[in-house]
Amino acid sequence: MSVRILKINSSARYADASTRRLTEAVVADLLLRHPDAEVIDRDVAQGVPFVSEGHIEAVYTPTGERTPAQRQLLSSSQHLISELKSADYLVIGAPMYNFSVPASLKAYFDQIAQAGVTFSYSEAGPKGLVDNIREAFVAVSSNGVPLDSPVDFLTGFVRHYLGFLGIHNVRVLDATGQIAGPHREREALEALVAA
Ligand SMILES: Cc1cc2nc3c(=O)[nH]c(=O)nc-3n(C[C@H](O)[C@H](O)[C@H](O)COP(=O)(O)O)c2cc1C
Repeated sequence: MSVRILKINSSARYADASTRRLTEAVVADLLLRHPDAEVIDRDVAQGVPFVSEGHIEAVYTPTGERTPAQRQLLSSSQHLISELKSADYLVIGAPMYNFSVPASLKAYFDQIAQAGVTFSYSEAGPKGLVDNIREAFVAVSSNGVPLDSPVDFLTGFVRHYLGFLGIHNVRVLDATGQIAGPHREREALEALVAA
């Protein structure tokens, strides 16, 4: 089976989005290592539904007991989960919107966190069930807020969330502080290569 790269973008911008350029650069680099890799393009800025009451009820109904309507309701989140669980690499573009991730990326995270499917609870605590990702890359961009500063509620959250799902090998590309100039993007890529 060929290697799969799941690319997730969430910037509302297309013309001049630093996170889109960075995810593209990371994917291009992965393709040099894996020329036959399949790239799955998941642009959550195009719209991801919010979880609804019906969605939550369906999730907590045992699989075999779900009605056709509940199965239909869950079909898009099942699709997103199967994309994630079939991927070898994860590349996420995470622009900072009001100190955290864009609502579209949060909506995506809400769709793919499902007990018994992407994580489970046991006496030992929560356990991530996404064990297929070899490496995850998160391109973080902001205008002014520095990475991991006290008001960066994005980076720690994304790291924790991915770890909760079982994705621990996460590399963050620091393109924060865009106000200083376009060199921040180049520096983020140089740091990745140097690491
Ligand atoms: C709705 C919105 C909210 C933003 N909030 C913040 C913020 O809280 N802190 C910050 O430093 N920059 C903030 N920015 C600036 C973006 O993080 C910055 O422009 C970043 O480069 C966007 O990523 P992109 O180039 O991939 O679109 C915000 C931008 C937008 C559009």
